[in-house]
Amino acid sequence: MHDAVDRLRADYDATPYVSDPFPQSAPGQLAAIAHLFGLATPDVATARVLEIGCAAGGNCFPFAAAHPKASVVGLDLSSVQIQQGRSRAQALGLDNLDLVACDIAQVDAAQLGDFDYIVAHGVYSWVPENVQDAILSAFRRLLAPDGVAYLSYNTYPGWKTKEVLRDAMLLASGASPTPEEKARNARGMIDFLTDVAPADGVLARVIAESRAFSESFGDAYLLHDELESFNAPCYFYEMLQRAGAHGLTFLAEARQESMIPDNHGPKVAEYIREKCAGVQVLIEQYMDFVVNRLFRESLFVHSERASQINYGPDGSRYEPLHIAALVPPADEETRLDHSRQEYLESDGAKLFTNDPGIKAALDTLSTRWPWTQSRDELVRAVRTRLVAAGLNPSANLAEHIDGLIGTLILQGQARFRLDPVAPEPAPTPLRLFEPIRRMAELTREDDEASIFNLWHEALLLSPVDRQVVPLLDGSRDRDALLEALLAIDREHEIAIERDGEPVSGEAERLQAFSEYVDALPRHLEEMKLLRVG
Ligand SMILES: C[S@@+](CC[C@H](N)C(=O)[O-])C[C@H]1O[C@@H](n2cnc3c(N)ncnc32)[C@H](O)[C@@H]1O
Repeated sequence: MHDAVDRLRADYDATPYVSDPFPQSAPGQLAAIAHLFGLATPDVATARVLEIGCAAGGNCFPFAAAHPKASVVGLDLSSVQIQQGRSRAQALGLDNLDLVACDIAQVDAAQLGDFDYIVAHGVYSWVPENVQDAILSAFRRLLAPDGVAYLSYNTYPGWKTKEVLRDAMLLASGASPTPEEKARNARGMIDFLTDVAPADGVLARVIAESRAFSESFGDAYLLHDELESFNAPCYFYEMLQRAGAHGLTFLAEARQESMIPDNHGPKVAEYIREKCAGVQVLIEQYMDFVVNRLFRESLFVHSERASQINYGPDGSRYEPLHIAALVPPADEETRLDHSRQEYLESDGAKLFTNDPGIKAALDTLSTRWPWTQSRDELVRAVRTRLVAAGLNPSANLAEHIDGLIGTLILQGQARFRLDPVAPEPAPTPLRLFEPIRRMAELTREDDEASIFNLWHEALLLSPVDRQVVPLLDGSRDRDALLEALLAIDREHEIAIERDGEPVSGEAERLQAFSEYVDALPRHLEEMKLLRVG
């Protein structure tokens, strides 16, 4: 097994992974999901967090930056990646983050101590069996009694067909002497099969789905996610057996909306209700077949807590939440009366209501988007709006709004946390959260590098954003910012677009930069980098 681990280390040292944040694994998300399903969790602000297989720490940075009183340890096999992560963490000023190069199967657990949240994203399926065991064993040994662990892994049935593609790519690329050649040979095989696979066959469909997903990813993704020497998907029920053998029990999916059969239509919901008798893990396995699932992001807790988990809808869990949602009226302003109106959900679905309280709640949330509002603030704001409109808020307004919050959460239309994600309004001149500004400064010349935002998301900046974001240190007003941008442009032309078209000509470019700077606060808020008002 040493050989296998050495080979993996060498692979990641030679081709470091693109190390980005994953909002679904943010400790704040894990705490909120655990709360939703009935569990008390450690305070995120002061939590001890461990990430196993953290690559260059990209998923640790947003959390460590936003929670200076928390402490974060990231472990990874590859010392090249850990070194990259350390120098970046130092440049970002993160002294609560410790990045350590080690093999999780060899680590001295007693030295690490307990953790409130443990994350292992994109690792488990790509390591030998003894390392898989070591990850689950670390969850059991290192997780605090009320802690939550996050594990993502490849699943069947989705990978059954995808494995054919992997096998074909390995056949064509296995003997390649360099990573670059390996990637080229694998892509060559996919191009060949794309040309010759019968259009109505399974292979053509798998290739199309795979291309749609991975086309924009570079060699690092292809070499590791698709071609790495280990790739061992499993069924969800197998994962539960393995976790159970380590004293762990399934809590929920990090994207809780995937757990709801009704989100797949009435036929699925009815069948699953009949066959699964409310047993959540059986429901999950049935749904994996319905959606031909490829990947899971599951939360686990100590088995001793199994009896506290509650999958039934429980309105009382919404009270401490902070919620963000964008559900604007479909085609007109909200009318605060009992007429029927449509509201647009982010996936294009529509929500209908004739209840003025619900309309006011949707409006209030949408106005506040992308920042959270506490459930109590929301109830108060709706009551005030109804009274101002001459309406009498119903005695059970709060329960009504809890019903709406439940619907939005279960459909995946709301973000929610136990702590607010609502920064103070930005000062003028504009000043960004310093670790984010520094991240942009560090990656200014790299057009493939992402920064992170205040929702723990990866954010790929446009060429003009890449030049401007590092300048937002509070020292430049609107005119100084425009001047600085024009100076950079004179040195090195910045690609700027208007309505999707490149802008050329001196006067036109001046106009475009000027419009860009005027629209900047709103643009930064849309990217969830700062709050405007
Ligand atoms: C596919 S990458 C995922 C990286 C990161 N978690 C992400 O999702 O972006 C897998 C990572 O696991 C690390 N890894 C593999 N085996 C390991 C082991 N035995 N101990 C610690 N880390 C390991 C690799 O070095 C690599 O950085």
